[in-house]
Amino acid sequence: MNTTPHLHSVHVELGARSYPVYIGVDRSADLGQLCRSHHVADRVVIITDQNVAAYYLRPLCGLLSKDGFRIHSVVIPPGERQKNLSRVSRVVAEMLNQRVPRSSVVIALGGGVIGDLAGFVAATYQRGVQLIHIPTSLLAQVDSSIGGKVGVNHPMGKNMIGAFYQPLFVWTDLEYLTTLPRREIVCGLGEIVKYAIIRDPALFDYLEKHLESIQSLERSHILHVLARCISIKTEIVSADEHEQSIRIVLNCGHTIGHALEHAGGFRVLKHGEAVLHGLVGESYIAKEMGILSDSDFRRISNLIARISFPRNLSRLRSSAVLNAMALDKKSRANKVRFLLPSGVGETRFVEEVDPLLVKRSIAVLLKKKDARV
Ligand SMILES: NC(=O)c1ccc[n+]([C@@H]2O[C@H](COP(=O)([O-])OP(=O)(O)OC[C@H]3O[C@@H](n4cnc5c(N)ncnc54)[C@H](O)[C@@H]3O)[C@@H](O)[C@H]2O)c1
Ligand SMILES: [Zn+2]
Repeated sequence: MNTTPHLHSVHVELGARSYPVYIGVDRSADLGQLCRSHHVADRVVIITDQNVAAYYLRPLCGLLSKDGFRIHSVVIPPGERQKNLSRVSRVVAEMLNQRVPRSSVVIALGGGVIGDLAGFVAATYQRGVQLIHIPTSLLAQVDSSIGGKVGVNHPMGKNMIGAFYQPLFVWTDLEYLTTLPRREIVCGLGEIVKYAIIRDPALFDYLEKHLESIQSLERSHILHVLARCISIKTEIVSADEHEQSIRIVLNCGHTIGHALEHAGGFRVLKHGEAVLHGLVGESYIAKEMGILSDSDFRRISNLIARISFPRNLSRLRSSAVLNAMALDKKSRANKVRFLLPSGVGETRFVEEVDPLLVKRSIAVLLKKKDARV
């Protein structure tokens, strides 16, 4: 369904729970009418964080109220540390205080933290209410708003509490990116580079050619990349909603990435930055195992080296990284399982990777000053 000339859409095919991801190039699109066409409830709860609210809460309320929606909003502090059960409980308390009924819709307006947390609230508030994602960070637009994974962290592990809960639709608008801090753009690039490595050699070529203008959000280039990444994610999610098989490819770079994030107490590295390091580390393992050619390894590490993000990981202790990896939910006792790049655009699942090689890849990551290994 294309409701305005500026709204392109990609479909997530999940039978009765299928939904579109709209990709807009300005905010003038009539969101209220779009909500009506999706039979969205009249009572709307916008959940967002303070940074996003400062720019976008009032305009969104304006768009929706002119179409007769009754709006509540819950604004939380920004950051990964908010993604926990006690924050969920406080958001639910605010909704109960505002007498938000069972027949309402939660709009998750924000980055991946808001998407995951507000999505979890939508999945569980009075056993579930409607959900719409309006992702405002690059990472959320290319990745976290699509596919229905919602949830929060537990002190013992990231994303350890959650559900699969699909939205009615996702509304992605390039304009949101104009206020996004530079570091957050790099975080989105982490997932974008991942998509190219796992699935799309043409996208990888495109990134090699246009990396700088993509980073500076040059409109036609970022739009091309967004549309391509959203298509890759929707195809994968449509094929394997619950991560029983193919969806696991999306974890490329994440086994090491999550461990680095964890070892830095979620303060040293942001998720997308950790994924960029993770992609280099996992490509290194693949190269050393003879799964990835030297030249493809060089292409991957050279592309990532052109992105400016924190390189110096000397604050991280390698024992903490390795320990975090053993806690990673994708690992099995005494074996290290990895989804490794086997070329630019392809991956291979490797059941038993030598823990010594993993150790070496971490040592290499922690001591080097740039992304070249
Ligand atoms: N559910 C999934 O499938 C999935 C996939 C990938 C990542 N994630 C999760 O996503 C989270 C990371 O998401 P993120 O990188 O978007 O982090 P985030 O939500 O913390 O957003 C990053 C920062 O940018 C700010 N921000 C967002 N949009 C803005 C805008 N338009 N203008 C100005 N500031 C803006 C936020 O306030 C925040 O400070 C992690 O918790 C990760 O686990 C989930
Ligand atoms: Zn990720």
